[in-house]
Amino acid sequence: CCYCMYMLRLHPGEPPLENGLIPYLGCALQFGANPLEFLRSRQNKYGHIFTCKIAGKFVHFVTDPFSFSSVMRSGRHFDWQKFYYATSAKAFGHSSIDPMDGKTTENVHETFMKTLQGVALDPLIESMMENLQHTMLQPNTLKVTSQEWITEGLYAFCYRVMFESGYLTFFGKEFNSKEDPNIARQEAQRALILNALENFKEFDKIFPALVAGLPIHVFKSAYSARENLAKELMHENLRKRNNMSDLITLRMFLNDTLSTLSDMDKAKTHLAVLWASQANTLPATFWSVFNILRAMKAASEEIHQVLQRASQKINFDGKVICLDQHQLEDMPVLDSIIKESMRLSSASLNIRVAKESFALQLDNNASYNIRKDDIVALYPQTIHLDPEIYEDPLTFKYDRYLDEKSQPKTNFYLKGRKLKYYYLPFGSGKTKCPGRQFAVHEIKQLLTLLISYFDIEIVDKNAKIPRLDQSRAGLGILQPTHDIDFRYRLKAH
Ligand code: HEM
Repeated sequence: CCYCMYMLRLHPGEPPLENGLIPYLGCALQFGANPLEFLRSRQNKYGHIFTCKIAGKFVHFVTDPFSFSSVMRSGRHFDWQKFYYATSAKAFGHSSIDPMDGKTTENVHETFMKTLQGVALDPLIESMMENLQHTMLQPNTLKVTSQEWITEGLYAFCYRVMFESGYLTFFGKEFNSKEDPNIARQEAQRALILNALENFKEFDKIFPALVAGLPIHVFKSAYSARENLAKELMHENLRKRNNMSDLITLRMFLNDTLSTLSDMDKAKTHLAVLWASQANTLPATFWSVFNILRAMKAASEEIHQVLQRASQKINFDGKVICLDQHQLEDMPVLDSIIKESMRLSSASLNIRVAKESFALQLDNNASYNIRKDDIVALYPQTIHLDPEIYEDPLTFKYDRYLDEKSQPKTNFYLKGRKLKYYYLPFGSGKTKCPGRQFAVHEIKQLLTLLISYFDIEIVDKNAKIPRLDQSRAGLGILQPTHDIDFRYRLKAH
């Protein structure tokens, strides 16, 4: 009734307010055990926009995908970096890297764009492909010397291979593996990275709690894990490494020339990059490998054709396979599998902070007053799992993003209207992930090598699909609640 509607509003012209139903958790990222259900029910009640008061802040959730464009168009009213600077400082423990606070004049966002996009992708891809092959195929590393089956947890496998290869790709190696066949040194490097992996896991476990504002000192082992990870990334240690990515080389230079950060603070800004480059990629790789097993025929045909067109041969004599950006981009089936895997597992929250009061006009022409310092949030999972946009939304369909000609499909509709925003695991607008192309390329590289070199299968064919661990909802790609055994062996040659 009108009276209720009036009571629900803060002021005329502001979105309906959902007050007091959300537990006070100190952050916008934890809105109950099931954010999707919560948002859906409020969307049904209020419509395209509604407000939640979380930790003293007003968070306006825009749920209508046609109105996402309005949010993007209102870019000038938002400060889209402040929130990330603050979250990064809180989680990784460095002092503020917001240029407004005076400790650095580096615009890290520009550094990311410069070193992760366009031609900068070429050396990254090349290095990743080499590192993946090194990690997966070196006889002394995986003990894959024969055609015997090896059983391992699929998540453990993806985690290990992607973490090690990604770490080496961004932070370089202590020696040049091509010219230095010294096994002892290679083993020492592997031990160091596996140690970093254990620390990363320990630290990443409590990441949602840190973002929610809990102090890291409460978590003793995670605290020492974070400090140990950072120590390895101190400039004095990084300087001993070769083949470092342009991203880290440039960030080191800018840390040293444009900032007054302490040595440990500088190291922690690199830890932030390590986390960004791994935390979503690891579960996304798991879901992609898990799902490719259900679309093996189409996937292996595409991989076979791409390798053939690129004149690359599977070989067991240590010669690495190369695929350039262009060749990796021309894999619509793998693209569709990866997209579908991320559609099903992504639960990120896109946040923008209003730097001034303004009126946000939604697609239905209704206009809402947003106050300075309010937060406007998009939760793309409501779109990714909307049965009107994606029929049978909880079912994996490997060809969901393929058209009749098996080319990338970009036409998705809601209520008969074509959608611009239907797939957003990498965020949207100005805050979109700068590593998104690399992320998709590296997953494709792993899939290509895995399918080409190994026979792989899930051990228990009747095993249930692992569920999504909702504790990280709001932070990106969700992890599986438990691992699932798979086995692999080198293909006969
Ligand atoms: C930011 C997703 C892989 C680097 C983000 C954001 C999302 C995201 C959702 C925040 C954007 C927003 O809120 O609008 C993902 C997913 C990945 C992935 C799903 C893998 C499947 C990577 C990789 C890198 C990377 C491989 C490589 C370094 C970054 C950085 C930021 C970021 C540096 C912060 C951007 C800034 O503050 O300017 N990512 N990402 N990401 N991502 Fe990724």
